[in-house]
Amino acid sequence: MDYLVLVNRDNLLSKTYIPNNLVNSLSIYRDNIMIDNKVKRMFSLMKLDALKHGYEIDIMSGYRSYKYQDNIYNRLIRDKGFNYAFRHIAPPGASEHQTGLAVDVCVYRNNKCYIEYEICNFDEIVWLHKNAHKYGFILRYPEGMEEVTGYNYEPWHFRYVGNIASYLYFNKLTLEEYINLSKK
Ligand code: DAL
Ligand code: ZN
Repeated sequence: MDYLVLVNRDNLLSKTYIPNNLVNSLSIYRDNIMIDNKVKRMFSLMKLDALKHGYEIDIMSGYRSYKYQDNIYNRLIRDKGFNYAFRHIAPPGASEHQTGLAVDVCVYRNNKCYIEYEICNFDEIVWLHKNAHKYGFILRYPEGMEEVTGYNYEPWHFRYVGNIASYLYFNKLTLEEYINLSKK
């Protein structure tokens, strides 16, 4: 698996691409959320360390097939219009959720689950933003980088990239910027 694979509107995955090392994440959010096996191991470590601080996190979305992404993309266009959808969800083939390397995090407090924008100022998320790089994850769509990533700030969406995560974190680089720099 190429943990540095860049997937966006300019770098599409084929309709038939399915990663070959998907495993069940065993998330309590719902059954059958699949992710890359290495990502599962690293997320589990991060989850355990978060718990040591009293922070309960899990995965609310992991691997998404091309077809599933197509469905949710078109549903969002219908519900919120094209301009909103364009900034919030990747078209089919353009989502790194199709790689199995992306996770959307949810937070549990007193058995209640919180997701997306409602968690953006939670201590759990602040901790994750500071520490996820130690486990190989980057915050993939940071605030203020919308023009580079193509998407609105997503405080919940982390992408596994492996060892390079700390370099990206300390140098405040998006994956697009890092890949472009390494081509020069
Ligand atoms: N929300 C991200 C951009 C995705 O749909 O992959
Ligand atoms: Zn996501």
